[in-house]
Amino acid sequence: MRYIEADGLRVSRIGLGTWQFGSREWGYGEQYAAETAPELLRRAIELGITMIDTAEAYGPARSEAIIGDELGGLTDGQRAGVTVATKLLPIAPTERVVAWQCAGSRRRLRMDALDLYYIHRPNPFVSPRRVGQAVRPLLRDGLVRRFGVSNHSVAQWQAFERGLHARAIANQVRFSLVSPGPASDLVPYAAEHQRLIVAYSPIGQGLLAGRPLASLPLARRARFRGSPAEGSLQALTRLQQAVAEIATGHGATPAQVALAWVVSHPNTIAIPGARNVRQLELNAAAADLELSEEELARLAALAAALGQ
Ligand SMILES: NC(=O)c1ccc[n+]([C@@H]2O[C@H](COP(=O)([O-])OP(=O)(O)OC[C@H]3O[C@@H](n4cnc5c(N)ncnc54)[C@H](OP(=O)(O)O)[C@@H]3O)[C@@H](O)[C@H]2O)c1
Repeated sequence: MRYIEADGLRVSRIGLGTWQFGSREWGYGEQYAAETAPELLRRAIELGITMIDTAEAYGPARSEAIIGDELGGLTDGQRAGVTVATKLLPIAPTERVVAWQCAGSRRRLRMDALDLYYIHRPNPFVSPRRVGQAVRPLLRDGLVRRFGVSNHSVAQWQAFERGLHARAIANQVRFSLVSPGPASDLVPYAAEHQRLIVAYSPIGQGLLAGRPLASLPLARRARFRGSPAEGSLQALTRLQQAVAEIATGHGATPAQVALAWVVSHPNTIAIPGARNVRQLELNAAAADLELSEEELARLAALAAALGQ
């Protein structure tokens, strides 16, 4: 495993996303929630993964509870260095409501203080600065160690920090070869200001593992939902072919190449979800896969050809 540090927070380049844990959207079933999910957490920690990503919205609340049940049983020594990140949905971001939401996450995760607490997405009716003001007491009272934001632009990220009167160490955004936008603005900003970009859906929810678009459930087709233009479907096929070709050259899988491309960016980590332990192991190994400058550039050009 390889690690990255920003503003004193050291995390693995590849983390584990847990939206899949107990959530209906992914449809992985009860056995996955009861057996596979705890197994994934144990194996992730063995592999040196130190970023576990969840949210109160996943399950809803079930993902946090599964993580709390598993990691609540670990000794401090075993848990040392592992950041469990969760997210607050700012539906009614007043001091009272966010304190109640935070208490719920802490109880389910069995943590006195949350390691990293993201604002899941901007509230369209409340400015990020006001949201920052509402959550500030959680930091002051030691209930949250660090804040982050998610799905925020650079300007929204900065506004949140102005309200918080502290850094929001990370911005978690959709970032992959099928959603390369953050490479041009958020990544350079994070690199310059000692912050982290945490890439979600880094395998394009399976699209970059080589699965044909038609084989994916509608909800998992990223930007190719609805009726995508013929040109962008051809560009996707060309991208998938290049990912597969580069993977073969490295004795790797397409999903590993997709992850290696994401984490080749400065100050950037990826948090893929996994259906089983084998996928998790392959994803963790992608932290050590080095693509050449030519391969990275070829992939970036094909990603850009998809259009925004
Ligand atoms: N902040 C936000 O708004 C937000 C939004 C979305 C996600 N997230 C977070 O980001 C995490 C990851 O994103 P995501 O789950 O949407 O997408 P993803 O990580 O791109 O895709 C995960 C899916 O890809 C497939 N996969 C994983 N590893 C693979 C491998 N090695 N080989 C082949 N297929 C593989 C699996 O699906 P199949 O095997 O079923 O194909 C898996 O469930 C989530 O769990 C969540 O924690 C955050």
